[in-house]
Amino acid sequence: MTTAVAAEYSAPAKIILFGEHAVVHGQPAIAAPVSSLRAFASVTPASAGSGLAIDVADLDTRLTISSGGAVPDHPLARAACLLLDTICRPPPDLRVTLRSQIPIASGLGSGAALTTALMRALVGAGGMSIPDAVLNELVYEVEREFHGTPSGIDNTVVVYERTIWFVRGEPPALLTVGKPFDLVVADTGVHASTKDAVAGVHALLAADPAGTRPVIEAIGALAHRARSTIARGDIRSLGPLMNENHRLLQRLTASSDELDRLAAAALSAGAWGAKLSGGGRGGNMIALCPPGAEAELAAALLAAGARRTIMTKVEAHE
Ligand code: MEV
Repeated sequence: MTTAVAAEYSAPAKIILFGEHAVVHGQPAIAAPVSSLRAFASVTPASAGSGLAIDVADLDTRLTISSGGAVPDHPLARAACLLLDTICRPPPDLRVTLRSQIPIASGLGSGAALTTALMRALVGAGGMSIPDAVLNELVYEVEREFHGTPSGIDNTVVVYERTIWFVRGEPPALLTVGKPFDLVVADTGVHASTKDAVAGVHALLAADPAGTRPVIEAIGALAHRARSTIARGDIRSLGPLMNENHRLLQRLTASSDELDRLAAAALSAGAWGAKLSGGGRGGNMIALCPPGAEAELAAALLAAGARRTIMTKVEAHE
């Protein structure tokens, strides 16, 4: 495996528009990429026999993988080995530097994006290509190490970089988006573990199945309504569906005071709808923005305590 010149590969962040948590329990969900926020893997050749060095710039960590050497105890090292095994290659003499614009532990899929960028870099550096469906399965394997029992929605939206309709265990469907729409993503600044939030819902379901199962099913029903609303481009009508999804997520213990405060601030500032996005209990909230109101909404969210805001557009698609 040789690489003559430096090359860069990347993968986007993601947001869940409808259906997080319920998707773990078999309900459908809708997710979109955030293409302006990315993880990057840049590849440079290294001296013969030096093996594969993965520098995780943000963590100040170097992972070294060589033929016959022990694999460092890190999900990204195991991701590299899994990919190399799949393409039947020994560790190449390369340096891969990973950098990310995506805040970690904030519900935006930073782990899936880093893994995807790394795997794409190793495939590309070998002058090979890999179908998205195969890459998606490999990234899912690694996600299981980060998250325990993930549904697979995060890796799927990150790998395909398209707005998707997702049901666990089924191939993803690309979503019809009748009209583009704008969202403001606001970070509470509170790091939260998706694994713990997912475990919290499992615990709730075990303790009170009769009270919890209808909440999960109601979230699935909202995702169905949102799918047809998005397809016909009736964007304003998505707002109340988002608000209802947020209320149901509160009942699943997935919200937090900070998320509730930002959602309320978004609605007071004119957003058409607002909800937490991703694992919750911290991390990010998304607000549906009337045309032209992005800057005003972002300012109101910062004033209400958001650490940062990002504007993103869900693009129209047939
Ligand atoms: C996390 O982005 C979405 C969850 O539904 C977990 C999962 O689907 O694996 C909370």
